[in-house]
Amino acid sequence: MDRLIDLRSDTVTRPTPEMRAAMANAEVGDDVLDDDPTIHQLQEMAAALLGKEAALFMPSGTMSNAVAIKTHTLPGQEILLDSDAHSMLYEAGNPATLAAVLTRQFRSSAGVPSPDEIVGLVHAETLHSPKTALLLLENTHNRAGGTVIPLSVHRVLRDEMDKRGIAVHLDGARLFNAAVALNVRPSEIAAQSDSVTFCLSKGLGCPVGSVLCGRREFIERARRVRKMLGGGMRQAGILAAAGIYALEHHVDRIASDHANATRLAAALIGSPGYVVETERPATNMVYLRTSERASVIVERAKHRFGVLVGTMGDHVVRAVTHLDIGPGDIDLAANAIRAVCAESVSA
Ligand SMILES: Cc1ncc(COP(=O)(O)O)c(C=O)c1O
Repeated sequence: MDRLIDLRSDTVTRPTPEMRAAMANAEVGDDVLDDDPTIHQLQEMAAALLGKEAALFMPSGTMSNAVAIKTHTLPGQEILLDSDAHSMLYEAGNPATLAAVLTRQFRSSAGVPSPDEIVGLVHAETLHSPKTALLLLENTHNRAGGTVIPLSVHRVLRDEMDKRGIAVHLDGARLFNAAVALNVRPSEIAAQSDSVTFCLSKGLGCPVGSVLCGRREFIERARRVRKMLGGGMRQAGILAAAGIYALEHHVDRIASDHANATRLAAALIGSPGYVVETERPATNMVYLRTSERASVIVERAKHRFGVLVGTMGDHVVRAVTHLDIGPGDIDLAANAIRAVCAESVSA
C-alpha cells in the first residue's frame, strides 16, 4: 500500500504546490474591517462569474446556507426544501435553531424536484399558517448521487416562486460540477435563484471556503448575519487566494473527475455483492447498494487495500472523485471494491 486512495469525498483534496504559493504570496488585510484586497478580488470574481451583484466569502458551505436562510427569512416563516437536502440532514438542524424557521419538505426524483409538488406546498400567510418565504434547491444533489437539476426545471421553479414572491436559494456546493455536466455557464444556473452558494473546498480543490452570491443589498445583510455567527475572519485573504487560483485553474479540469466517476462505475458494474446505483454518474459520485453492511465494506477496503470510501446509509457506499485522483487510482479502487464485496457473497 504505497499511499491511500481517498474517495470518501471531494473535500479531502490537498492544496497543490501552485495553490500554496498563491496563498503564501497573498496580499492581506483585516476583512472584518473590510480591507482585505484578496478577499475583495475573490468576491468580485465570484459575483462576476455567477452574474450576481455581490458576493461574500464564507468559512464553509454550511455557514453559507445558514446565513442565506437566516437572511432570506423571519422567525416563524417556512422554507421548502428536499427531505434529502444537505441543509435538512447534515447541517445540525441550523434552519430550526439559527433562523427559527419551519422546514416543509418535498421529495425529489433522483435529486430533481417536481415543480407541481413544490407549488402545492406553498403557504400564504394567514392567521393560521406560516408564510412560505424561501425555496432551497441543491444542485448537484449530494444524497441523490451527485445528480443534476436540469436548467428547464430551475426556470419553471424560479418563475413559479417569482409569481408568489418567494425567494430561491441554491445550495450549489458543487455548482461547477453541475455547470460542467449541463454544459452551461455557472451564471445560467445562478440566474435561476436569488442567492447561490458554491464551495471552494470541494471540486475546486481549496482547503477552506465557500462563497455566497446575490444582490448587493442581500449580501450586506448577510455580512451582518455572518458576523453574528462568528464567521467574520481577519487576514483571510490567504484563503481567498486559494479560491482565486482555483477559479482560474481548476474549473475546466472538473470534467476529468466526471470521467473518472464514469470509469469507476463502468468497472464496477456486473460484479457480485452490490448494485451500482449510479450506473452512469451524472457528475463525480458513485453510489453502491451493498449486500454486506456498508461499514464492513469500508473497513475491509481501507485495511486490505488502502482504499477509502464512505457510507451513506447502512447498505450504501459512496465513492467521490476529485483533483487528487487519477485513472490509475480508479482502476486500483475498482479492483479493491469488487474484491471486498465479493468476499461477503462467497463467505
Ligand atoms: C450539497 C452540500 N451542501 C453543503 C455542504 C456543506 O459544506 P461544508 O462542508 O463546507 O460546510 C456540503 C458538504 O459536503 C454539501 O455536499
